[in-house]
Amino acid sequence: MNIIVEKLTKTYETAAEKLAVLQDVHFSMKSGEWLTVIGPSGSGKSSLLQCIVGIVPPDKGSIIRLDDLHLHEASVEAVLEFRRKRVGFIYQDYKLFNQFDALTNVILPLAPYERKDILYKRGKALLEKVHLAERIHHMPSQLSGGEKQRVAIARALINYPELLICDEPTGNLDEENRDHIIEILHDLNKEGKSILLVTHDKEVISQGQRLMQLQRGKVYEQEKKRFHPLDK
Ligand SMILES: Nc1ncnc2c1ncn2[C@@H]1O[C@H](COP(=O)(O)OP(=O)(O)OP(=O)(O)O)[C@@H](O)[C@H]1O
Ligand SMILES: [Mg+2]
Repeated sequence: MNIIVEKLTKTYETAAEKLAVLQDVHFSMKSGEWLTVIGPSGSGKSSLLQCIVGIVPPDKGSIIRLDDLHLHEASVEAVLEFRRKRVGFIYQDYKLFNQFDALTNVILPLAPYERKDILYKRGKALLEKVHLAERIHHMPSQLSGGEKQRVAIARALINYPELLICDEPTGNLDEENRDHIIEILHDLNKEGKSILLVTHDKEVISQGQRLMQLQRGKVYEQEKKRFHPLDK
């Protein structure tokens, strides 16, 4: 998916103040690229990811194009449909539904739109892929932080997304599971999927083709050192 971002500005307004988090952000991403975003806590990384696919509305005047979809002009329905069909989003705080088990959480985004038996089969395979075959009927309250994170990753893949957005996808994982998730992301990237990812994890930063730093509301492209053996 080709992404063009121009003049992206995001201001949060609370009763007390206006907080300009993103200021005139410009960048683009070609289909099949893996772009990693780093930056201090509170610098607006999650806001950036959520604005780009319209989960959080950017300020007026911001221009975001996802292939042919002009986010700033599109209807709410068109944006929802676009995300449902073409985007996977791994939230930093997982956003699992506590009243549903792991498998139901994974299929939920497509439950109203596709046959349940097909979805359950695919959901199970995805949970197996993230090493959770033994946990498919656990409720979120019965899962560890890292297990919840892996359920969230499986859910983001249920629609075979062309663009996978990952907000600190390995934040709660041990080394072994982190490496496994990196491998999954690599495989997806090799298949031509675009990956836009935020992380603090050095091992993850060394992956992918591009690196961008977010600081004081602006983005700066960094030179990418390719030193990880997986990054070929
Ligand atoms: N809905 C909101 N209303 C008001 N302020 C908000 C809102 N959401 C985020 N913020 C503020 O915007 C700033 C950027 O938040 P954001 O979550 O994008 O940062 P981040 O770079 O992802 O941080 P972290 O690394 O800690 O996840 C923070 O200072 C946060 O307090
Ligand atoms: Mg964040």
